[in-house]
Amino acid sequence: MIRLEHIGIAVKNLEDSNELFEQLLGRTHYKTEEVALEHVKTAFFKIGESKVELLEATAPESAIAKYVEKRGEGLHHVAFEVEDIVAEMERLKKEGFRLLSEQPKRGADNKLVCFVHPKSANGVLVELCQEIVE
Ligand code: CO
Repeated sequence: MIRLEHIGIAVKNLEDSNELFEQLLGRTHYKTEEVALEHVKTAFFKIGESKVELLEATAPESAIAKYVEKRGEGLHHVAFEVEDIVAEMERLKKEGFRLLSEQPKRGADNKLVCFVHPKSANGVLVELCQEIVE
């Protein structure tokens, strides 16, 4: 793994949270993006080498909706950038980690992503992400 790419925070209302995080971080978000497949709207803030990703559910079946309903708003996942996501998924599987998908998926921010089940990572939902180069 190369670096901490971003942390993901589940929120109820993206507009309200954008304002809050603009005050907190002292800067504006640089983009918003909807990921229809995952039923989420996202906003990104740059903070040094890393980012903060805010996520709001756009449908009740969204993982973010379920998370917020069960645990309230808050830290949802930690994302690490990897060079080769398929190789990293293989490596982690061999190490005994449980992955949430067999194949990488297209995520927000021009990334291929895959999640590691929190049960196999001390309760932390870990995202692997690789920049898509086109
Ligand atoms: Co993320």
